[in-house]
Amino acid sequence: METTYLVTGGAGFIGSNFILYLLAHHENIRIINVDKLTYAGNLANLASVESDDRYMFRRMDICDRSAVRDLFFEFDIDYVVNFAAESHVDRSINDPEIFVRTNVLGTVSLLDAAREAWRVGDDKYGDRRFLQVSTDEVYGSLGPSGFFSEDTPLDPHSPYSASKASADLLVKAYGDTYNFPVLITRCSNNYGPFQFPEKLIPLMINNALHHKHLPVYGDGLNVRDWLYVEDHCKAIDMVLSNGVVGEVYNVGGHNERTNIFIVEKIVEECSKAIGDAEISKSLIEYVPDRKGHDRRYGIDPKKINDDLGWWPETNFEEGIVKTIQWYIENRAWVKQITSGEYQNNYVQQYDQEKIV
Ligand SMILES: NC(=O)c1ccc[n+]([C@@H]2O[C@H](COP(=O)([O-])OP(=O)(O)OC[C@H]3O[C@@H](n4cnc5c(N)ncnc54)[C@H](O)[C@@H]3O)[C@@H](O)[C@H]2O)c1
Repeated sequence: METTYLVTGGAGFIGSNFILYLLAHHENIRIINVDKLTYAGNLANLASVESDDRYMFRRMDICDRSAVRDLFFEFDIDYVVNFAAESHVDRSINDPEIFVRTNVLGTVSLLDAAREAWRVGDDKYGDRRFLQVSTDEVYGSLGPSGFFSEDTPLDPHSPYSASKASADLLVKAYGDTYNFPVLITRCSNNYGPFQFPEKLIPLMINNALHHKHLPVYGDGLNVRDWLYVEDHCKAIDMVLSNGVVGEVYNVGGHNERTNIFIVEKIVEECSKAIGDAEISKSLIEYVPDRKGHDRRYGIDPKKINDDLGWWPETNFEEGIVKTIQWYIENRAWVKQITSGEYQNNYVQQYDQEKIV
């Protein structure tokens, strides 16, 4: 029998990678991609599958409760995978409200529509699943040692992570209150193709390739746990098929790196890839730290390893070279989106036009 996925935010970075992953790994599926197409949504990411019969796109705001409700009655949806979100911490510091709207109220709109549509019949929810794509940032910041486990208390610091933690709590509450079939994944920082160049890795690659300054927050020693996006997609696929309803699964690859290590690595690999000696560490420029900048994130992926057999297939050294190569080969994609609103936000963010 065909499985129908509702993927929200499927024109964004991870959502589009997930749709490509599903289509490459499953035959008997139908995917409905629902996306508002904010500055971060880009249908060009999915150009290669536009004519695939298993895939369709609907432009929609997940906060539009009546449109979302209609969608659930129009299609018999088996799995909801909720990627749709405002996702950039810096933007959340400048304008928290839209984060609450999309990340919290949008999630509730989906939960309500799914609950209403899926309650039909004696079978209750059957094999249906609602998977909330969350982040390790909900756990707050770590000191120099230790890792986040699924039992780590939520302690978000930025408006972004607070909105994601709020959504997680509502998803859990629907599970507890209505016996609704929820799953939550909390993943570490992703990198790979199709990531909007406001985030650290594509921003640095793009700037390096154009000999622009490489702005590094604070002392550059903040630590993030980097995961190649395809490994995140694999984890979500496995949690949907075999995860235990009501559970949280942390996703991370024990790949902790300081920001300055990442930037220096990008300088080295970009310079090598296009044989350009002008791409050098002299482009690096330290800028005032982000407000409330979490010092360190690190995931303990033991549960998803042990219970579902997930492990990351792409190590960082391989993944970063693949990613740089992708950005070199897809300069037109980058050019198409690095204009207008993004440029304005970038100047505001780092407050120094010279680095643009
Ligand atoms: N990027 C990471 O490293 C990371 C890590 C862990 C978890 N996550 C989570 O994964 C999800 C996807 O992240 P991403 O990096 O792909 O984000 P992204 O910003 O690249 O994509 C978000 C997508 O959501 C869409 N969207 C925004 N508001 C919407 C609305 N109201 N209705 C419908 N669509 C809307 C955008 O148009 C965009 O296509 C987010 O929920 C994020 O919190 C991201």
